[in-house]
Parts: sequence; C-alpha cells; structure tokens
Amino acid sequence: MWVSYPECAKLVFLQAQLLLKKNTVIRIGNIKLEEFPVLLAPMEDVSDPPFRYVCKLFGADIMYTEFISSEGLIRDAAKSVKKLDFNEFERPIGIQIFGHDIDSMVKAALYAESVSPDIIDINFGCPVKKVASKGAGSGIMNDIPKMVAMTEAVVKAVKLPVTVKTRLGYDENRKDIVEIAEKLQDVGIQALTVHGRLRTTRSSVPADWTLIGKVKENQRMHIPVFGNGDVIDGPSAKFFKDSFGVDGLMVARGSYGNPWIFHEIKHYLKTGVLPEKPDIHERVRISKIQLERSIDWKGERQALMEMRKHWSDYFKGYPNFKAFRIKMMQIENAAPMFTLMDEIIGYYDGFDFEKHTTDTDAISDLPSACHP
Ligand SMILES: Cc1cc2nc3c(=O)[nH]c(=O)nc-3n(C[C@H](O)[C@H](O)[C@H](O)COP(=O)(O)O)c2cc1C
Repeated sequence: MWVSYPECAKLVFLQAQLLLKKNTVIRIGNIKLEEFPVLLAPMEDVSDPPFRYVCKLFGADIMYTEFISSEGLIRDAAKSVKKLDFNEFERPIGIQIFGHDIDSMVKAALYAESVSPDIIDINFGCPVKKVASKGAGSGIMNDIPKMVAMTEAVVKAVKLPVTVKTRLGYDENRKDIVEIAEKLQDVGIQALTVHGRLRTTRSSVPADWTLIGKVKENQRMHIPVFGNGDVIDGPSAKFFKDSFGVDGLMVARGSYGNPWIFHEIKHYLKTGVLPEKPDIHERVRISKIQLERSIDWKGERQALMEMRKHWSDYFKGYPNFKAFRIKMMQIENAAPMFTLMDEIIGYYDGFDFEKHTTDTDAISDLPSACHP
C-alpha cells in the first residue's frame, strides 16, 4: 500500500514518538527512574527500614516511610521522629507526612526535609477514623480547596520534590480524583499515586482502576501517575499496566513477607514468564537479614516482637507451620530464633511450594493504624 508523503512523515513522527515514549525515564524532580518503576507503598507498622532494606534488595524503585503525624513530628514525639530514619541504600526515599493543619504540615515538611530524603510525600489517603475525621488523610478530600492550599504551602516551603498519595474521592458521590489530580499538579506536585478506592471503600473490595485510567487519559496531566490497589504479582501488574496506562505501580499488601515481588513484577513485564518462587532457604535467608537489621535498628526484644507478623507472611502456605509459629511467638532472644530458622530449613528442605501450597490467599490481615 502506498502512503503519501505527508502521511509517511506523520508515520515516521508517530514512530519516533513511540520510541521516545518507550525509552522515556520517569522523572520526579531531579530523580530519574527506570521506565515503569515499581514502588513500595508507605505502610504503617510494615514499611520500616528493615523491611524497606529487603524490598530494595529485590528492586523497589522508590520507597516511602510509614506515615508520620505532622503534629507528632513538630512536637518531637519520639515515635514520629524515629520514623524519619532511613539508610543511604534506600534512596530514592520519600518521607510521608499527614495532618489537618496547614501550618503544622509546612513545619513538618521542613523538619522532614532537614534529614535529607529525596521526596516529601503528603498522605491524603488514610481512611482511618481517628485520622480522617479530623480532616487529615482522606478526610481532606471533603475540602478540595484546603487540600490544594495545603499542598501548595508544602510545595512552596520545601526545596525537595513533593508527591501526593490519595484515593479516588471522598465517597460515592464525590469521585473527584480527575479534578483533584489536575489541581495538585497545578500547584506543583511532581508525581501522584492514586489508590483505586474511595475513603469509604474497604480494602476487601477490589480496587477500581477505571478512574486511575481517567487521570492518566487527561491530556493536561504531565507528571507521573502511579496506580495502587491489588497489585499482588506479575500478572496483576501486567494487567493494570496494559489496561490503565499508568507510569508505574505501587505495591502494598502484595509485598507482605514477599520482598521478591519487585523482581517478579519486573521479570514478568519483561519476559511474560514468572520467576521461580523463593524456596525455604531463600525465605529464611531474607527473613534473617530483616531480623538482623531490625535488631540493629530497634534492639533485640522489640525486633523479635515486630518480626512476628512478618514471619507469618514469609512462611504463609507452608503446611504444619503452626507449631513453628507458636515457638516464634514465645522466643524473646535472637540466638534461639536463628536456631529455629535453621530447623525450619531442615523441616521444609526440598518442599515444592508451588505444588503444595494450601493457602492461595496472597493478602493477609496485618492490623494497622492506617488499614481500614
Ligand atoms: C498495614 C497497612 C498500613 C498502611 N499504612 C499506610 C500509610 O502509612 N500511608 C499510606 O499512604 N497508606 C498506607 N496504607 C495503604 C497502602 O499504602 C495502599 O494504598 C493500600 O494497601 C492499597 O494497596 P494494596 O492493594 O497493594 O495493598 C497502608 C496499608 C496497609 C495494609
């Protein structure tokens, strides 16, 4: 078929654009990320430095701290200040703050900036009553002008790039994310993560990605838009990527006891093939690393307590694990815990996880301050 010159020129132009688009790296301020980054979500009580460390080992492109109360931070509350900790290895790292008062948010953003992260992230997504009822987290979606004003004030106050993580809207009657996204971009945020649920949607209800897709379709949007909600493995990541045109994905519950998910998603997107599941040696190796880092960070006792919920996830699906779990709940020192881990290897060595898994539920029920 003949193509006229103008049409030919148009085709060449389109092809060049496609090529450019394919090689485009994602930028957040000066931070350059590889094409289609996969982010570790901020998760209260989960995404602390030891867990972030192991997620980084497997390729998480950006990670965030657990959410930090602006009021707590500016009062120098120990719990809030501790959440600012991160290691160089984790970069690029975002510190996430939340609050209802614009002045406090500005002060908290400046405080967070003083420890030199790469990004300041504003949480406009937390639905938990004690946060949202005060007009913080997703509660602020009830007052879009304030949401925009708070964002603008934070953007103006700090030198670092500011990003926002939010939901589709306040409730069924206010699914305002397309309008909100544009307004937040106009006041200077450098990337947006949209969790495909409303303030009022429970996490057991599947995320709705259609509106995330609409945010991306908006021709005025030029900042990266990351989609979040129910990304649990390579195939789900591919489905959301192909169907909704987002610039990258954020993973929360899919990473529970599964820091390998970042590698799995990238490998699957590239090859269409799932990598082998980690065997018992690998699971023990990585959970030991997380424990060691946790001990360094919080001390032996606290680390053992906090690792308990992670262990349940690392070994989810292994039959007869209950007896080991009970022992894990009782052990209060590192040495016997490391010995127990070696016993676990001995017991399950050669076990084919893929064939025998009894528990196909990929998402467990960690309790959290920011989990409805
Ligand atoms: C245990 C837990 C803690 C969370 N803490 C935060 C938080 O601190 N900040 C935040 O923006 N979202 C938080 N979230 C929401 C997640 O970041 C994410 O938006 C949500 O879980 C949906 O993603 P998923 O389907 O991949 O789990 C939390 C979620 C869970 C399960």
